[in-house]
Amino acid sequence: MHPVYIIGAGLAGLSAALTLAEQGRPSVLVSLQPSERAQSVLAEGGINAALDTMGEGDTVEDHYNDTLRGGVWLADPNAVAALTAGAPDVVRRLAAMGVPFNREDGHIVQRNFGGQKHKRTAYARSSTGKILMNAVIDVVRRHEAAGLVTRLPHHECLRLLTEEGRCIGVRIRDTYTGAMTDGFGRVILCTGGLCGLFPGHTTGTTQNTGDVTAMAFSLGAALAGLEMLQYHPTTVGIAGKRCLVTEAARGEGGRLCIRRDGALWYFMEEKYPELKNLMPRDVVAREMYFVRRDLGGSVLLDMTSLPEATWENKLSDLREELMHYLSLDPKKDLIPVEEGIHYFMGGIDTDIGHRTSLPGLYAAGECACQYHGANRLGGNSLLGALFGGQTAAQSVMGDVHDDDDVPAPRPFTGEEPLAAPVSAAFAEAVCEILLGGMGIVRSEAGLTAALDALSALTPGNARERCRLRLAEAMLTAARARRESRGAHYREDWPQTDESFRKTAVAEMQGDAVTITFRPLPERRETS
Ligand code: FUM
Repeated sequence: MHPVYIIGAGLAGLSAALTLAEQGRPSVLVSLQPSERAQSVLAEGGINAALDTMGEGDTVEDHYNDTLRGGVWLADPNAVAALTAGAPDVVRRLAAMGVPFNREDGHIVQRNFGGQKHKRTAYARSSTGKILMNAVIDVVRRHEAAGLVTRLPHHECLRLLTEEGRCIGVRIRDTYTGAMTDGFGRVILCTGGLCGLFPGHTTGTTQNTGDVTAMAFSLGAALAGLEMLQYHPTTVGIAGKRCLVTEAARGEGGRLCIRRDGALWYFMEEKYPELKNLMPRDVVAREMYFVRRDLGGSVLLDMTSLPEATWENKLSDLREELMHYLSLDPKKDLIPVEEGIHYFMGGIDTDIGHRTSLPGLYAAGECACQYHGANRLGGNSLLGALFGGQTAAQSVMGDVHDDDDVPAPRPFTGEEPLAAPVSAAFAEAVCEILLGGMGIVRSEAGLTAALDALSALTPGNARERCRLRLAEAMLTAARARRESRGAHYREDWPQTDESFRKTAVAEMQGDAVTITFRPLPERRETS
């Protein structure tokens, strides 16, 4: 049987490989870095599922509603219904794989996270991603030993191979030897978000540059929701990057404040008496931006009244990190925090089965636009990666009935135009332009200036050309959405406008980037 090529070995890629292997279907897992260095290991706070272990009466329907509300009604309701209904099983399976979730009396403990009405986030101290990835990697290795998974770390996807408008495989390169191989079969992209476009400004890995997304776009795959870029409210600058101070810090009682007239002002508590510091991230990040703009100084995270047991059992890794890197002890010091680029709700446009608009090509995890609408809830990304990878793999198996005539992999020895990298200077220029246009507060003038600056750049190779188109699509989508919704705040269009409750879809037409707004489907009745 012919393997499925999975590009990216983070949680979504591993989940796809696992799902395929469980059905006896082989896969090749191609990744720049080994799974142990994927962005998924950086996730700290936890994974959402309506398990209701805290006896708060949580339900799948509540999870569904919180996710849609958090995404300001821009997510596909049917995809969210599937995600939230599947979540309890996803977490139970992880527990069965041996993920040591925090427990009390044998039950998985769940914590508060932003934008949620119940304690719904299962966690393993404050290193959930790393701990969870260890368990999943171990299970995938067992399938590798059985010959069902071939892992190719230190390999990059150079090109998606197409024929008559279909994706038929991938050209990959061994980054150590430079050898190139063409592999044929269905392809699932699990390449992560676009954090790598923003080195120094992001909590994410700079490996995830979006080059594969940009390449897919140039080949005709539609992208969607590109204007929806999430700023995490609490990050700290460490060694030239933004490091996450997990939302769990606020979930466990941490409070945001700023100095006003010589006293600490707990602004979120005053402005949002119901959810306080646990409003969805877009709201918190925006409020931090505004209070800092109005009052000057830094926003501070006050965790000084958290009980000793919380530090010992729930946030020990966070305290260690802050003490080690910032020489601040959150038990007694206030921690200066800033918003940092954290997650991309948009990406490759997919249907509910994670099929892209390019037949033969699937996408899951952060590189795909699915589940999160205009703002993702904390704890829904690990879930979206696992569930999305699983769904994409199931779609592949359902779609492929006979692939006997697929060619075997073969070496490629010709010239590959996409092999030349994006230069550091070009990457920096694009980053500065995007930061100028796509900040927490945006405007027509700012976005137009950014687009003008972008059009003045001259790409030096094929990859730079792809990146330019991707950046143009992001800015054009943000300019076209003349309203404020979720992570997209326009100071010139500050209201949410029902007529824009549509997905912004970006496509290449010839050499031009076009944006159209696609209505959302109605929720289907389920039995
Ligand atoms: O704050 C956090 O722990 C991040 C979690 C997430 O983005 O899901």
